[in-house]
Amino acid sequence: MKVLLIGSGGREHALAWKIAQSPLLEEFYAAPGNPGIADHATLVSLDVEDHAAVIAFAKEKAIDFVIIGPEAPLVAGLADDLRAAGIATFGPSKAAAQLEGSKGFTKDLCARYDIPTGAYQRFKAAEPARQYVHEQGAPIVIKADGLAAGKGVTVAMTEAEALAAIDDCFDGAFGAAGAEVVVEAFLDGEEASFFCLSDGKTALALATAQDHKRVGDGDTGPNTGGMGAYSPAPVMTPAMVERTMKEIIEPTISGMAKDGNPFSGVFFAGLMITAKGPELIEYNVRFGDPECQVLMMRLKSDLLPILYATATGTLDKVEAEWRDDAALTVVLASKGYPGAYDKNTPIAHIPDASEEAKVFHAGTALKDGKLVATGGRVLNVTAFGKNVTEAQARAYALTDKVEWENGFCRRDIGWQAVAREKA
Ligand code: AMP
Ligand code: GLY
Repeated sequence: MKVLLIGSGGREHALAWKIAQSPLLEEFYAAPGNPGIADHATLVSLDVEDHAAVIAFAKEKAIDFVIIGPEAPLVAGLADDLRAAGIATFGPSKAAAQLEGSKGFTKDLCARYDIPTGAYQRFKAAEPARQYVHEQGAPIVIKADGLAAGKGVTVAMTEAEALAAIDDCFDGAFGAAGAEVVVEAFLDGEEASFFCLSDGKTALALATAQDHKRVGDGDTGPNTGGMGAYSPAPVMTPAMVERTMKEIIEPTISGMAKDGNPFSGVFFAGLMITAKGPELIEYNVRFGDPECQVLMMRLKSDLLPILYATATGTLDKVEAEWRDDAALTVVLASKGYPGAYDKNTPIAHIPDASEEAKVFHAGTALKDGKLVATGGRVLNVTAFGKNVTEAQARAYALTDKVEWENGFCRRDIGWQAVAREKA
């Protein structure tokens, strides 16, 4: 199979590393890719916003299958345009990607099909939203409707905080993403991420993970795209996975199909495990970054036929097998992230991968033949262990061998699971 992978982050490096192991693979391209992905695929400098250029490249190379990593091209309809050109594509249509692109869209779907989630209202103006907050009281959650790079959510512990967040949204803090606001009941419990494939009809559960959104140790400081993750998530017992499939994923698949937006791709469900059971916080319509890195480490099966079956409506014919081990990833980020940081700082040394551990590239580039950090999140040091404690020790042992002066990481990734394992 001739494959083109779209994206350039740590998530795509992990996908590329896994796909490269497939005996079905004949030719492999990545656009735009990164220096880590270059170990596995030929990098192509395509502008992925130019759908015609992507299609032209795919035709020229007789690409059989395109895999789209990030959300932006999905929300922009790249999967629709590729499929219209007759190219099998992993990733949902623009219409189905609204599950991630619009929080209000997802909440309305939940209401229509009885999917457990926090009670909510949608607002297009500040005054009625403020009124609703007065009625409901705090704690309460304020969300910009659209894509806001993970920054559009305020979990307000006081009414004043909630009102300020509403004003921020309508004052343009999140641009067009904040033109509509969702106000939602606060859910109390433990969070987990659940990944599941769908071809529009069938579901294939993948695995679970927990991430660390805050920049600082002890889950302090501002939110980021994710400073680390581990899999599996202990709170997601087999019984909880079964309930999530029945109560959340299956009604989503059938509801989306009924509404004329069949969903093909990966569900990344953000869940709150409350006293009542699993409730949906949000959907993303692509693999998590860095959650994908730990998932790919644990996946025993060949990824390529699984993704191809998802894209071509034959998911009922494949299975996914997982290592029982835990996997954990530590994100090395540029000092200053998620605020301003220096670009093009030199990375002097990346340790070699071993059987148990591997460093994925996220925001790196080659400048005059030298590796430099160009992004906020730059490297993902990922390791296995028989439990999270062992995976954590291995990941940090490898992290300490990275030579990059401008880098930093959290030192406590996996702390909840480690505490649980010690108890
Ligand atoms: P989201 O971008 O929707 O995933 O929200 C970001 C974070 O805000 C989530 O990971 C949760 O920690 C928190 N959050 C979102 N919605 C709720 C809710 N209804 N109740 C409690 N916490 C929430
Ligand atoms: N790590 C969170 C995300 O990919 O959205």
